[in-house]
Amino acid sequence: MERLRSSAKKKKKSVLRKVIDFFVKSEYHAYLVGGYVRDSTLGRESIDIDVVVEGDAIAAARKLNEKIKGKIVAYAEFGTASISVDNLRVDLASARTEKYKSPAHLPHVFPSTIVEDLNRRDFTINAIAMSISRENFGEIFDPFEGLADIKRKLIRILHRNSFIDDPTRIFRALRYKNRFGFKLEEDTERLMREAVKEGMVKRLSGQRILNELNLIFAEDSYGETVNDLSYYGIFAIKRNELRLMPTSNSHAFYYLLSKLPRNSLPLSKKEKEIVDDFRNIDEMMVKLNKATKKSMLYTLLSPVAEEVTEAITLIKPELQEKIKTFNALKRINPFITGKDLRKYGFKPDKQYAKILRKIFVLQIDKKLASRREAIEHLKTLRKK
Ligand code: CTP
Repeated sequence: MERLRSSAKKKKKSVLRKVIDFFVKSEYHAYLVGGYVRDSTLGRESIDIDVVVEGDAIAAARKLNEKIKGKIVAYAEFGTASISVDNLRVDLASARTEKYKSPAHLPHVFPSTIVEDLNRRDFTINAIAMSISRENFGEIFDPFEGLADIKRKLIRILHRNSFIDDPTRIFRALRYKNRFGFKLEEDTERLMREAVKEGMVKRLSGQRILNELNLIFAEDSYGETVNDLSYYGIFAIKRNELRLMPTSNSHAFYYLLSKLPRNSLPLSKKEKEIVDDFRNIDEMMVKLNKATKKSMLYTLLSPVAEEVTEAITLIKPELQEKIKTFNALKRINPFITGKDLRKYGFKPDKQYAKILRKIFVLQIDKKLASRREAIEHLKTLRKK
């Protein structure tokens, strides 16, 4: 915590300094909380500064922004505001308590004090506050011994219903565990297993699960977290099903989604197509291994999403040459284009891509030597 105090002092004229100056000179009771306090204690950089204000956070944010002159966005329904300045974000929230009407749903929110606010949080390491108010600047509020847990490298929930109230914390616990190389505290681990067993994850909306997955895959430690998702039975995936997971966040993301039940997450049409292609990636690699002719490579790979061919080079480096050859084939100008199909009376539909692919394969195999020959061939197709 010394480090936090001194880093707050060192960063002269920094955004943090200005935030602190503003609150110290104001009448507000305000606190640095959450990730910022945790990361400073761990000696890690944090891009966000989280401030909790006892009172109207939006009004405080507007006044603060007169000093720091960033871009402010207020969220009236949540009583929060964000200021973006110098590639940093200052998030201000009103201290609040939450009541969960039913498990796994968003809570009802009431105004409160900092200690009550800390009570509603997920883990002890995120439930530490440091006052930036005039009368008690630097005072630490650590009601759950989060600082000690940081030292002991433990992820610990604050109360036994935590995972039931908010099952996204199951994902969060594993994300923090692996990000920091911490352990789940014994009771926390047991209660997490119980929540999983009681089907709490299934109670979350697909959108909330997808948000958590996006956060997991934004971290370097995504591989360990995915293994944990399997190990703890959060997703019904066996560990060996993950053995070919590509070593890049975005490809691994699709790979994992391809192991989940279809339509369980609200994906865009494009994402669904990519995930469907990933479902066949094992089979695709077997076929690719056997493919010898250039045209075979093209027939196999041209219908699938680019993300899949990229992933293959990561999963099986020995197939890299074949993917390179395929990419070179894509750069060849085809004799026939969609424009020709229209000109020769083909109705625009799904068949277009198929026909173009077929003719291009003949071109690759040198069975069609020129555009003229290709057009003659096209005419014979129309007659059929
Ligand atoms: N929080 C919580 N329960 C959640 C989500 C968030 O209690 N399901 C609280 C935690 O106290 C957390 C704070 O809200 O510290 C801010 O959440 P978030 O921005 O997601 O996390 P950070 O702590 O900023 O950590 P990071 O962004 O580094 O993961």
